[in-house]
Amino acid sequence: MKVTDNFLWGGAISAAQTEGNYLTDGRLPANFDYLPLNDQRLKPVYSDDRQSILRTDKDYYPSRTGINFYQTYKEDLKLLSKLGINSFRFSISWSRIFPTGEEAEPNEVGLRFYENVLTELESYQIEPIVTISHFDLPIHLVEKYNGWESRQLVDLYVHYATTVMTRFKGRIKYWIPFNEMNMVLHIPFIGGGVTFNSETNPLQIQYQAGHHQLLANARTIEIGKAINPQAQFGAMLAAGKTYAYTCKPTDVFAAIKSERENLFFSDVQVFGEYPSFTAHFFKENHLKIIITEEDKRLLKKNTVDFVSFSYYSSACTSADTEGLEQVATNGFMTLRNPYLPKGKSVWQNDPLGLRITLNQLHDRYRKPLFIVENGLGTQDELIGTNISDTYRIDYLREHIKELLRAINEDGIEVMGYLMWGIIDLTSVSEGRISKRYGVVYVELDDQGHGSGQRLPKASYDWYQKVVKSQGQAA
Ligand code: BG6
Repeated sequence: MKVTDNFLWGGAISAAQTEGNYLTDGRLPANFDYLPLNDQRLKPVYSDDRQSILRTDKDYYPSRTGINFYQTYKEDLKLLSKLGINSFRFSISWSRIFPTGEEAEPNEVGLRFYENVLTELESYQIEPIVTISHFDLPIHLVEKYNGWESRQLVDLYVHYATTVMTRFKGRIKYWIPFNEMNMVLHIPFIGGGVTFNSETNPLQIQYQAGHHQLLANARTIEIGKAINPQAQFGAMLAAGKTYAYTCKPTDVFAAIKSERENLFFSDVQVFGEYPSFTAHFFKENHLKIIITEEDKRLLKKNTVDFVSFSYYSSACTSADTEGLEQVATNGFMTLRNPYLPKGKSVWQNDPLGLRITLNQLHDRYRKPLFIVENGLGTQDELIGTNISDTYRIDYLREHIKELLRAINEDGIEVMGYLMWGIIDLTSVSEGRISKRYGVVYVELDDQGHGSGQRLPKASYDWYQKVVKSQGQAA
């Protein structure tokens, strides 16, 4: 196995973190537009009165302005195209196409925006990789249905997905119906648009929401293949090997359980059925998930073509975590791994962990793998017009080297490597743009003030060489 000319080198962004213009051209707010710039962002929403908590409007909400990609996409894509990338992952904002989620007819202006994005990409011969739902859904669907808790969402999503797959037929080969489905278990309001009240068992809602997303995923594949038999559909998970803190069997088993949870939804997307421990797990946790025989048939029939994933770091767990130091990974906490150095990011960098994760997913799934997010989110210093982000280069270099080893030495089929946040965007977990990921700097502060000017960082030149040399210059 070698990195061939077909290898997809590129970058990724999402609508909610970049587009801004949340009320422009008929768009209405999404759940994401109610995530404030404070430590409440990731907290599950508990309320006996959903409407009142959702519509308070008392904070600053970064996604409403984003980086203004809705207006700047042409110049941004031009700058990114000069990197020599051959692929670009973006997501469609559901509420730009169906503002409340319940309209019969789509918002034509919204569709035209993505049509224009595709036209730009085609002019640079850049392959689009499109996420249909990247952590966002119309807020109306949260208020009326409690998001993905409701089975109604399956039909509404399928209507939306069918609309975009029909409109962009032949122009998009790679579809990712849902970003990181497993995150509904960690950040339920973001991952599933669900809220809880004093009566509910959160896990019940989270797993029911996940089941509904799995159904929507399966129906999207079925319809998408009918629209375009060449289309390829991917599972997408927030990945990262979970190590056992020690070789104590109880720690090893704790790690197995944690991995099962992390791989739960991708297992269903790949194998078309729930893992064997599911019945016991649901019973143990008093979960009554409604899964019909028809649901099972649908899942079995419509599995994914590839497995895409994000990788930022590994995780670590123990059967007895008391007294052990915790660190953040993306979206949740994990044990500090004493064998990994402290990095410049909130998480512990573990490049070999990427190779381990690739091997693990390959052994388990035997499907082409696709790294659709990897990057370093940290502060950059702007000196004049220069950003010397050598730490980002180091992070990316080490990870790309492990990727190449996984391909060349372990024989793993990898479709591509898309670095995350190729242009600075607002972070999901923190809302800050100052947690920067890009090889392109966006001159804005955390409150959205600034010129918005785009400036290539040192990592821009470096990544350009990496792409040109098929990774060899890393
Ligand atoms: C992934 C998400 O989990 O992590 C992205 O798919 C997100 O949307 C990325 O931006 C990095 O995390 P954060 O919290 O720093 O934005």
